[in-house]
Amino acid sequence: MHWTGENAPSGRIDALVAPVTDPLSGQPESKASVAKVAPYEAAWYGFAVADRPIALAADYVARVRTGTGWRAELAGSETPDDWEAQARALLGLGPEVEVQAVRDAARGNHRFAFFEQGRLVAALFVSKTPVALTRDYLATLPGTDGTGVLTGRAPANRPDPGPTICACFGVGLNTIVAAIETQGLASVDAIGDALQAGTNCGSCRSELGAILATRQPRVAAE
Ligand code: FES
Repeated sequence: MHWTGENAPSGRIDALVAPVTDPLSGQPESKASVAKVAPYEAAWYGFAVADRPIALAADYVARVRTGTGWRAELAGSETPDDWEAQARALLGLGPEVEVQAVRDAARGNHRFAFFEQGRLVAALFVSKTPVALTRDYLATLPGTDGTGVLTGRAPANRPDPGPTICACFGVGLNTIVAAIETQGLASVDAIGDALQAGTNCGSCRSELGAILATRQPRVAAE
């Protein structure tokens, strides 16, 4: 319900809710609307990162800002004939922008990395099934030389932090789990002392507690 047409035009739950509002607060009756739903049959799924806004030019696009620009989840029911042209259209890139590509048309896998003056400006990863990538790492690459970007994976010497749990300090799930297991962290406050997570706005503290409840330290807490 918090997505707007500006960044997720096909993902707005408020477009589904009946136009009935509370007479005093004006709030929509979003928890009581009747809706008919069916699975979306996507022909392709994509993930993109870019140093510029990613166009809302697919059946489904949900884009968010990152520290280096933008990232987006995409899906479509029509498979383009020319994936490179589609990538340039989505990423707002002209034909002069240099591209590196990995293509496996039989499996529907396409990966593109675009460079200007040796600097990665955007990348698109497409597959017939939801794409398995280290997304948070890839989102850090626009503006760099983009070495290894088409692997879709963080290098071995740069562990994947996992999905972000604490937005205030950019701490990911894998980082938190590793700290719990290796440092014997046994409380949300201990996680905060070790990683800062949970020590600012506090909105991630319940999620930190849930992670703690499912993890066992490999070493005893002192
Ligand atoms: S999101 Fe973790 S302290 Fe704000």
